[in-house]
Amino acid sequence: MGKTIIISNRLPLQINITEKDIEVTPSVGGLATGLKSFHKEGDSIWIGWTGMPEEEIPDDLKGKVLEEAKKQNCLPVDLTSEEIEGFYYGFSNRTIWPLFHYFMEYSEFEPEDWESYKRVNQKYAEAVLENLNDDDEVWVHDYQLLLLPKMIRDKKPNVTIGFFNHIPFPSSEVFRTLPWREEILEGMLGADLIGFHTYDYERHFLRSVKLILRKDSTFNEIHLGNRIVRVDSFPMGIDYQKFSDASLNQQNQPSSENSNFQKKLDYHKNSTSDAKLIISIDRLDYTKGIANRIRAYGYFLEKYPEYKEKVRLVMLAVPSRTNVPQYQLLKKEVDELVGRINGRFATVNWTPIWYFFRSMPFENLIDLYSSSDVALITPTRDGMNLVAKEYIATRTDQTGVLILSEMAGAAHELNEALIINPNNFEQIVDAIKTALEMPKEEQIRRNKMLQKRLKRYTVEKWAKDFMNSLREAKNRISKIK
Ligand code: UDP
Ligand code: G6P
Repeated sequence: MGKTIIISNRLPLQINITEKDIEVTPSVGGLATGLKSFHKEGDSIWIGWTGMPEEEIPDDLKGKVLEEAKKQNCLPVDLTSEEIEGFYYGFSNRTIWPLFHYFMEYSEFEPEDWESYKRVNQKYAEAVLENLNDDDEVWVHDYQLLLLPKMIRDKKPNVTIGFFNHIPFPSSEVFRTLPWREEILEGMLGADLIGFHTYDYERHFLRSVKLILRKDSTFNEIHLGNRIVRVDSFPMGIDYQKFSDASLNQQNQPSSENSNFQKKLDYHKNSTSDAKLIISIDRLDYTKGIANRIRAYGYFLEKYPEYKEKVRLVMLAVPSRTNVPQYQLLKKEVDELVGRINGRFATVNWTPIWYFFRSMPFENLIDLYSSSDVALITPTRDGMNLVAKEYIATRTDQTGVLILSEMAGAAHELNEALIINPNNFEQIVDAIKTALEMPKEEQIRRNKMLQKRLKRYTVEKWAKDFMNSLREAKNRISKIK
């Protein structure tokens, strides 16, 4: 067997140009953070974009970018500013992202963006084909590259191709509104195996194939002439050990070695005997329900004033897709809401919301997860949500309460969390109170079960299951030929 070629729009490393050099940082987002552990372990190369427009990388630093990428077994694909505009900000994030997350009113159908999407998918296909041997396996990831499986198949009919969609696949009634729906489905069907996080997404996809392409499926398989495409669900896990070990290490080190950030968190926690921290961590994205979450927290302080000066919401919002108007509007809305609530409730000793608009290094994420009493995660739609799983993994003493939206893929596996409907304001507010008052024994009982499940189905197991299923699907095709 040859190597695995992983391909996604974004590489797990982000390149930035500083004055005369390059700076390499880890990429944010579930796909990159999750898949990184699988990539590190095995014999794979990862093809994708470094996050920089091609024109902005000075000629004398191009070699260095390549070298840094190669150190992590990555191969960069260069995208021009024009391609980034049409393919990335345009079709990927102004058409598919909102549509697949049920924000139909945000979804734009621009033929020029579609043309750019096709061209850039072709560019990625060429990068794969240049590095592909006949016995290699190709694993394509996510909504930016829906056309890629077919583009590769057209050139290499017998190659093994898996595709995994990291975001929801919407109901066929929503998907059918897309002007290029046939091409998108045909693009995906170039794969031998198509994976989704949940059974619902899988069903929506199969229904769309039936409705739009008039192709039936039997037992999760679609027969296309002499090919079979298998469709299945594989809920992505996390590198559990990495998170629980980091949390244990942090607790075992002398407090003098704690980060300044941890010291600030401790300062609040020690301010009164019943001080509590609630965390909220996401990319600043309208699908994450951040604005409503802040409103709900404001209403919580109004409804249960006894919590004033005792509870603090630490909110980390990571900048994301800042060229898309909806993200700019959301930033403004969030800034205003935080200002309004802090302005209204703050006292000399207490600020109700600590708001960070940036990404944080891994160690500080661990500080946040392990110091907080409650994690408040309220997306209106989310393919999976790994933050919820990471929070549970860092709770090594099994305390802490996860409040999780039923609209996150992760809710299917994390039943012992306090599951809420993100549109039910009153329910969120009461869940915050329940979480803050939950007896320790109950927290432990719930987290025990959650941890057991997350420990068992790690990201490594997820990747293994997907690859095994891909090989099985391929073997079945060879047998029927
Ligand atoms: N994350 C990060 N740095 C930060 C904040 C978050 O690397 O400052 C990571 C977080 O640990 C998680 C990922 O970003 O692994 C977010 O994944 P999730 O599935 O929750 O949401 P997505 O961003 O993929 O929609
Ligand atoms: C989600 C998507 C990923 C994407 C990530 C960050 O996790 O499923 O494909 O990489 O968000 O978004 P960005 O646009 O910065 O790559």
